Amino acid sequence: MAAGKPTDMTRKSLLQTTSVAAVCSIAGELPVFAREYRPIKNQQVKKAAVIWYSQAGNTRRYGECAATALSAKGIAVTASDYRDFDAGGIDAYDLIVAGCPVFYYDVPGNYKEWLSSLKPIDGTPVAGFVSFGGAGGNQHNTVCTLLDLMVEKGGVPVGAGLFGNMSTYPPTWSMGMEERILKYRHLPDKRTFDRVREFALSSLGNVEVNKPITYSKKFNFSEAVKGGFSIFWGARLMTGTHRIDRTACIQCGTCTEKCPTGAIRYKDYAVDSGKCIYCYGCVNNCPAGAVDMTYMGKKLTGFNDFTKKHGIALNNPA
Ligand SMILES: Cc1cc2nc3c(=O)[nH]c(=O)nc-3n(C[C@H](O)[C@H](O)[C@H](O)COP(=O)(O)O)c2cc1C
Repeated sequence: MAAGKPTDMTRKSLLQTTSVAAVCSIAGELPVFAREYRPIKNQQVKKAAVIWYSQAGNTRRYGECAATALSAKGIAVTASDYRDFDAGGIDAYDLIVAGCPVFYYDVPGNYKEWLSSLKPIDGTPVAGFVSFGGAGGNQHNTVCTLLDLMVEKGGVPVGAGLFGNMSTYPPTWSMGMEERILKYRHLPDKRTFDRVREFALSSLGNVEVNKPITYSKKFNFSEAVKGGFSIFWGARLMTGTHRIDRTACIQCGTCTEKCPTGAIRYKDYAVDSGKCIYCYGCVNNCPAGAVDMTYMGKKLTGFNDFTKKHGIALNNPA
C-alpha cells in the first residue's frame, strides 16, 4: 500500500469523525470554532453511567430519574454520586451522563476537579445536566462548562439539560428573602421529571444515530460582571462564624459526609475554615441545626429546616 494513502479503517474513521461548524452570532453567543469529535465508539449502548454531585438532593433525583429512563431501555446503568463511583472503570461505558448543581454561576469546584482527574474516555458519548435555583444564574454556560470538561477527556457531546427548582442557597432565606425561593416551591414537578426523561432518551437517541450536539456559551455582560467569582468572594467575606455547636450536635456525621473538601471533622467538632468553599452543604443537611454559621452577622438556617418550616416535601420522580 502506498505511503500516505488512507487505509479503509482510517478513511472510515475520517468519515465518521464529526466536524461541528463554528457558531457565532452577535446575539450573545461566544464564537465557537470548529470542533472535531472522535467517532462515537459504540452506537449500541449496553452500559451507561449516570454520575452526579448533589448537595441537597435535587441533582440526585434528576440523576436517578435519568438512570431509570435508560434502564427501561434495557441498558445496564450504574447510577451514583461521584464520590462513590469507581472512576477507574469510566472508559468501559457506552454513555456517560454527568450532573451537578450550579454553584456561584459555575460547575462546583470539587466536581470540576474530579472530572478533570478522569482518565481519557475517547469516543464515549457524554451528556451533561445541571440543576439550578431561580432565574439568571448562568445556568446555560454552566452546562457548557460541564460538557467541556468531558469533551476535554475525549467525550462526544450528545445531550444537555437544565432543570430548575427551589434554590438551596441559605443566605437568601436567612437574610429574609424567603419569597424569592418560595416562588419555586412547586418545583421539581411532574413536568420537570418528564423533561429529565426526555433529556436522557434524546441523548441516547443521538448516540444511536451518531449525532453529536453543538453547544456554545453565551456572553452576557451583566452576568460576567456580577458573576460567580464576585458572589463567591462576597460569600467568603460575609460568612462569619463557622463552627459545630457541641450542645446541639448529635454526632451523626452528616456534615463531614456532605463537605466536599474534608473541612469538617465532626468527631472532635473541628472546622477548618481555610478549606471551606462556601457550598453550605453542612448547614443545609445537618438534621440537628448544629452547624453554627453566620452570614452578615445572621445565623444561617439550612435547606432541610427551611422546607420543614414551610411544610414543603420535595417531589420524587413518579
Ligand atoms: C452555594 C450555592 C451557590 C448557588 N449558586 C447558584 C447560581 O449561581 N445559580 C443558580 O441558578 N443557582 C445557584 N444555587 C442553587 C442551586 O444550584 C440549586 O438549588 C441546585 O438545585 C442544588 O442542587 P442539589 O440539591 O443537588 O444540591 C446555589 C446554591 C448553593 C448552595
